[in-house]
Amino acid sequence: MCGIIGYIGKKRATPILMEGLKKMEYRGYDSSGLAVIERDGIKCTKKEGKIENLEKELPTMDLDGVVGIAHTRWATHGEPSDEHAHPHWGCKKDLFLVHNGIIENYPQLKEQLIKEGHKIKTKTDTEILAHLIEKYYEDEDVKLEQAVQKALQNVKGTYGIAVITSDEPNKIVVARMGSPLVLGIISDGEYLIASDVTAILKHTRNVMYLEDGEMATVTDEGMEVVTLDNKPVEKKTEKVDWEIAQAEKKGYPHFMLKEIMEQPEVVLNAIRGRMMEEEGLAHLGGFIEQKGRLAKINSITIVACGTAYYAGMVGEYMIEEYAGIPVDVEYASEFRYKKPVIDENTAVIVITQSGETADTLAALREAKRKGALTLGIVNVVGSTIAREVDAGAYSHAGPEIGVASTKAFMSQLAILALVTMFLGRQRNMSLVMGQRILEELKEMPKKIEKVLKQNDEIKRLAKKYYKSPSFFFMGRKYNFPIALEGALKLKEISYIHAEGYGSGEMKHGPIALIDDKFPSFFLAPQDSVYEKVISNMEEIKARKGKIIAVATQGDKAIEKIADDVIYIPKTIEMLSPMLTVVPMQLFAYHVAVLLKRDVDQPRNLAKSVTVE
Ligand code: AGP
Repeated sequence: MCGIIGYIGKKRATPILMEGLKKMEYRGYDSSGLAVIERDGIKCTKKEGKIENLEKELPTMDLDGVVGIAHTRWATHGEPSDEHAHPHWGCKKDLFLVHNGIIENYPQLKEQLIKEGHKIKTKTDTEILAHLIEKYYEDEDVKLEQAVQKALQNVKGTYGIAVITSDEPNKIVVARMGSPLVLGIISDGEYLIASDVTAILKHTRNVMYLEDGEMATVTDEGMEVVTLDNKPVEKKTEKVDWEIAQAEKKGYPHFMLKEIMEQPEVVLNAIRGRMMEEEGLAHLGGFIEQKGRLAKINSITIVACGTAYYAGMVGEYMIEEYAGIPVDVEYASEFRYKKPVIDENTAVIVITQSGETADTLAALREAKRKGALTLGIVNVVGSTIAREVDAGAYSHAGPEIGVASTKAFMSQLAILALVTMFLGRQRNMSLVMGQRILEELKEMPKKIEKVLKQNDEIKRLAKKYYKSPSFFFMGRKYNFPIALEGALKLKEISYIHAEGYGSGEMKHGPIALIDDKFPSFFLAPQDSVYEKVISNMEEIKARKGKIIAVATQGDKAIEKIADDVIYIPKTIEMLSPMLTVVPMQLFAYHVAVLLKRDVDQPRNLAKSVTVE
């Protein structure tokens, strides 16, 4: 998730652009840059790291221009570096572009552009788009907006872009597909464009939001909005009534709630470009490079910490059931000190949001020393672990600001389903089964949306139970890890004691704690172990334990046993954790808010545990 800003008007663009970049720092970034139209052409500078690294370059650049674009990058393709930072340009340095999103078909576009003589300098998908626009702009009498339109008609994926050229110095062309773009109207002939209203609010509250498939040509005489097939669009001006602090969270009170609500889009981004439905295959670039070794591995060890470890536990059930490979899931902090029995026929999969967790990194290095094939499921592009694994798949969850992991976990589950498919289809998984899983994976964003719509109901449950001193979270098979994750979520943000258990384990001791003050969450979707979970619920009920059940839509029978029920849509068992986890996240969130906890930065915790 990158930050984009552009300015056109009467003032010097540079200070306005820099101030806008700083307002978007909260989105997370690894590099930044800007380009300004000067009398003698466009001047551009871009630097890896903090925005102050960019700031240091400016005093020597004499930037007086009144039209410019700028960008903070959250890397999706190509590790963070000066070269990979935006803006990008084509073969000539007279047309510059900043981009937020993922160009899915950039490999094919790149191949064609190279054939046509374009010299590609970086590994980014964005540079390919700059060359594509430049290609059309070179045609006789083509205006910038026409070249952008033609280029975008060849693009698959998501983008929010801003483009400038020294040949038309009083113009910025912007376009949106899947990544937000907002136009700020400061005065006649003075406009700001940004991916995020926080960069605009200091200058104006009068905005126009571009919709997907729309583009705008902004000049010092006004702006014109059209669709990609050049149909004019009437846009209304809206007034933003958020304060900046609210705008950073898109109006949500906390980053954690915003990130919980983003999960349908996160799953879309995780699976985008990675499903070959016809062939019932998962298309994971990094795994394809290692397909020879992956076809031969005879065991898998998954290594992670915290929430990522619980994702790995779900992956164990998936891979063993659908790929028939034995899987061992290890806490990284344990793995690194034990004598793991692994060798070159073992694949070690490390799962990590930050890509910097010290225990996970140490475990990865131990696995490499023993000759295992190391694979990463990582969110932060270019992070240490992302750079040290033999191959991997990025989560594409965007920056996760809340310390309690939610959307990154969701993305990890989606990618583990794709990894399962990749390995399964190399073995005995049939085409039909592969297609069935992909078909259901595509349905998950909509189904997650349905669970999110019960936010108010879950908030009511939080109000009913938030004074409880302890909770059990119970589940079986695919939902046993979700029981553990639900307990962790509640513990880490509300500070209430909670324990997750396989529900079959209750009678071996923990049930001694049950009384009418000790509520239990049961994950009880209608799956292969449903009846077993129901009988465990009966055991709790018989001891006056209160029960909150997560059940499949239409399951009325469960209401005779549970005190409260949250319903989720039906899905295939291996993907049910992507639905059952959502009520756990929302319940923990609302309990923490009721207890006035620091939801986004809970006490004692860090977002990335870079110490042992
Ligand atoms: C989860 O909500 C916690 N913040 C924590 O358990 C986290 O999952 C763990 O520290 C692993 O972090 P990583 O995914 O960045 O490696």
